[in-house]
Amino acid sequence: MRWILANDVEDVGRIASDIVLDYLKSHYESVLALPTGRTPEAMYNKLVEACQTQQCFEHTTLFNLDEYVGLPTDHPSSFASYVRRCLLDRVKIDKSRCHAPNGVAPNLAAECARYERAIQLAGGIDLAILGLGTNGHIGFNEPGSSFNSTTHVVNLSESTRTANAEYFTGGEVPKQAITMGIETIMGADRILLLASGSKKKDAIRRLRNEPPNIDFPASALKNHRDVTIITDRAAG
Ligand code: F6R
Repeated sequence: MRWILANDVEDVGRIASDIVLDYLKSHYESVLALPTGRTPEAMYNKLVEACQTQQCFEHTTLFNLDEYVGLPTDHPSSFASYVRRCLLDRVKIDKSRCHAPNGVAPNLAAECARYERAIQLAGGIDLAILGLGTNGHIGFNEPGSSFNSTTHVVNLSESTRTANAEYFTGGEVPKQAITMGIETIMGADRILLLASGSKKKDAIRRLRNEPPNIDFPASALKNHRDVTIITDRAAG
């Protein structure tokens, strides 16, 4: 694991965006997994800025990491809306290459299988960009998730629902989500994990100190050959 200590969340975004742009330059037609949340916002802003003067996503395929069960893609709190707002609507990209799990699919198991198949048909993930939950989740793989999981439905923990409550003013945070599994994420050629803010301090400490164990999902990354972790000072 490579650790990069950034000054603040803006700096995390700048460094992450530089790494992503370098990756896109050297890997034509790459497949990316994308996170949502507060931490990657600065990265998306920097990427959008860079895309005004250079080619970025023209040949890239994107897969969102996760989606809430019960939210249609056009719901303002859906992760699909977040990624559209932060990135897709602001850069030149072929929308037919941008994928998200369908949280309102009538058969969720079939939807998970469809999403996983789509990822594998695209050749698997090349670069997975991840955030980190205070409980160590990556994607929405909550503590206890099998390291052998592919795309599946998860029950969200209370701490995760509370952490995301600000995106649901006036409404309840869904209790379930569809997430790319740990095995799918670990199949990536390269992984970038972003963490910011003092609330992530304990999770970062656990990531440094604990051996791989399913009670702390991010620890699975220790079994991967190419992981870069960018934290700000408050988290790291
Ligand atoms: C979201 C996701 C989550 C978040 C994590 C950190 O797509 O997969 O793992 O990345 O909850 O979120 P923030 O950055 O809001 O603390």
